[in-house]
Amino acid sequence: MNPKITVALAPMEGVVDPIIREVFSLIGGYDLMFTEFIRVTQNLNPDKVFYKFCPELKNGGKTFYGTPVTVQLLGSDHSAMVDNAAKALELGSHGIDINFGCPAKTVNRHDGGAALLKDPQRVGRLLEELLRQLPCSSGVSAKIRLGFEDTKLLPDLAQILKSLPLKHLTVHARTKLQGYKPPAHWIEIKNYFSGFSYPVFANGDIWSFEDWKKCFQVTECAHFALGRGAFANPALGQQIKLNNPRALSWNEFTESLLPLFYQKSHEYRDHHYALCRLKQWLKFLGRNYTEADVAFSKIKTLKSFAPPADFWNTL
Ligand SMILES: Cc1cc2nc3c(=O)[nH]c(=O)nc-3n(C[C@H](O)[C@H](O)[C@H](O)COP(=O)(O)O)c2cc1C
Repeated sequence: MNPKITVALAPMEGVVDPIIREVFSLIGGYDLMFTEFIRVTQNLNPDKVFYKFCPELKNGGKTFYGTPVTVQLLGSDHSAMVDNAAKALELGSHGIDINFGCPAKTVNRHDGGAALLKDPQRVGRLLEELLRQLPCSSGVSAKIRLGFEDTKLLPDLAQILKSLPLKHLTVHARTKLQGYKPPAHWIEIKNYFSGFSYPVFANGDIWSFEDWKKCFQVTECAHFALGRGAFANPALGQQIKLNNPRALSWNEFTESLLPLFYQKSHEYRDHHYALCRLKQWLKFLGRNYTEADVAFSKIKTLKSFAPPADFWNTL
């Protein structure tokens, strides 16, 4: 058991939706989760937007199995960000996470996500404003990359973040320019984010228990955020927390996890959505389970689908 290790399921737009959060919360090993980012322009989003991204708000801000969920916001307009954060908290979000990592061109063109890393002072001012305006117990966290084009401004950024009373910080150990290209530069987390008074979550390229051990050694962090690695190996959170590399068996997927995931995705939207999500998950699982590759090839050409009850045994 690694009692002091915290594992978060990293936010992933189009991947970590409320259904995946519920299924991963059932699997266990994840202490906290995030919504996909909610775009904030100049207005307050209507309540239905918050409920769409985070139906857990109707359950005290927790998944069905009890994992706290934090709403993530993306934007740069101070007053709109404060209004939207206050609304999410009022509706029951467990804190507010601010996205300073999104590399998407449209987002960056509109002055959101990683674009703010070009000016660390702006990152600091936005967070200060949120900390000043929101109730002090609410908890503001941030998710960053190491910089926009390079790490020139990283010392300034780290200094500013260190001086703020954040709830926690997630560091995706790459610049915006590095995109998702391996490797993640974990050493920069150790170099710049050690000795913070609040938890720093190391993030990027933790695909396996072995990767985690290396990341742990390099960063000396006690907190880890898992994105694609968790999607490809859902037991990764448990493996890290229990210090035991036991994986889920393929039977556990076909007997319960995949049917549950499909049924919930269908209830959430429709068969088309559920089928797309199933293909997406199988593709990721194929990194660790050859059976998932076989299952993917069986369904990849289907456009619509209503699986009979015995379908899952055939995978
Ligand atoms: C498809 C996809 C969507 C993502 N969406 C978000 C998002 O909504 N908010 C965010 O802060 N990061 C987002 N990220 C970044 C991840 O949270 C994470 O920082 C990144 O994938 C590196 O971690 P990993 O190697 O464990 O996946 C996304 C990443 C991917 C691949």
